[in-house]
Amino acid sequence: MSDDLPRHLLAAFGSPLYLYRLDAAEDAAHSLRGQLPRGAALYYSLKANPHPALGEVLRAGGCRAEISSTGELAAALEAGWAGEDCLYTGPAKTAGEVAQALGRGVRRFSVESAADLDRVARTAAAQGRTAECLLRINSARSGASGLRMSGPSKFGVHEADVLARPERFADRPGARVVGAHYFPISTARSEDALIAEFTASIESARRLRDAGLPLAHLDLGGGFAAPYAEPGERPHYPRLREALETLLSSRLPGWRDGLPAVAFESGRHLVGGCGALVCTVAEVKENEGGRFVLVDSGIHHLGGMAGLGRLVRPAATPEPGAAHPALTSHLVGPLCTPADVLGSKVPVCAAGPGDVLVVPNTGAYGLTASLLGFLSRPAPAEVFVRGRTVVSASRLTLSRTPLDTGVDLPVPVTTTGDVPA
Ligand SMILES: Cc1ncc(COP(=O)(O)O)c(C=O)c1O
Repeated sequence: MSDDLPRHLLAAFGSPLYLYRLDAAEDAAHSLRGQLPRGAALYYSLKANPHPALGEVLRAGGCRAEISSTGELAAALEAGWAGEDCLYTGPAKTAGEVAQALGRGVRRFSVESAADLDRVARTAAAQGRTAECLLRINSARSGASGLRMSGPSKFGVHEADVLARPERFADRPGARVVGAHYFPISTARSEDALIAEFTASIESARRLRDAGLPLAHLDLGGGFAAPYAEPGERPHYPRLREALETLLSSRLPGWRDGLPAVAFESGRHLVGGCGALVCTVAEVKENEGGRFVLVDSGIHHLGGMAGLGRLVRPAATPEPGAAHPALTSHLVGPLCTPADVLGSKVPVCAAGPGDVLVVPNTGAYGLTASLLGFLSRPAPAEVFVRGRTVVSASRLTLSRTPLDTGVDLPVPVTTTGDVPA
């Protein structure tokens, strides 16, 4: 990114804004595909960033779409994916959303329980269709570290439960069980951790297949890491391809011929590095011995989940080529809550109002994971560039749609605040 590009973009689109470099997302997809087993499919997880402009380049780069809501489905279709390129995942799917997805061409679902499989099957059968279902499996823990998505949790079915009651997970009218889906970890700490996790999943899939589970498709999930709102490069996995090819060949020979067809998923690794939040300093103040840099962006634009203590807190970073020395500061936003902290005791190169700060590596779980509605402030513009050329710019808006209140309800509707007797 050129040093003066953020300032030019702020002048054109207002502050703050998200700047995304499409070529960086393309590079990330190309590079990750080159580190995976040859012939494996790669799904882009739209939860990391559903913007169709990013989806378009990842689709062109050979990725499919992993979606978990009808909103993500709409974004995937806008990006040019067909319904049949999408894998619909996630717990607590409703019959309504499954029906919508089927109606828009989605055929493959990851199901998280026997009840989820029943629901998808009933909904598909009612449309005269048959859904292809992957069972989301929780297997034994590999012991690898990262953000765990398995073990006792709302996700998936334990492998032992499938082995104990296979009839609960068999084909039925409306659903054909075609394989298994694993996603035990996000953000694996190391290549070894990643390999350990995939090994545990492949071993589990082999056990299930030996017990009779159909295994035409094996989605091994991801766990590919990326720096989040701090400087750094996404990790490379130089040993991964060979390790996985060797393992697959010994445990599931036939995978090279597509039996099973192997797939992976990634959100943050593909798009984290392409985005930066560019914001402007409103005020610098000393308060009770602390130095506070107040900016025009906060947890409503970045790291809202971090503000709730769910993920690591972002670190502040200087604008590239910043003129001021970095001073230890609290980087805080404009929201009326002490949780509105982008960085605590971090080096910030800002002397006063008008200085520009850039928070790098915020292409994933930036805007989409933030408290956008809180305090009713506008969303930042999202600006997409190739080199120095702006190829698209947009702003997400929240608006209220009035609903019809003339419906018959079994309880009286009161507008006075009284609770009806
Ligand atoms: C099923 C599934 N797939 C993909 C992802 C994307 O994870 P990441 O952005 O870490 O690659 C997640 C994250 O929660 C997930 O639950």
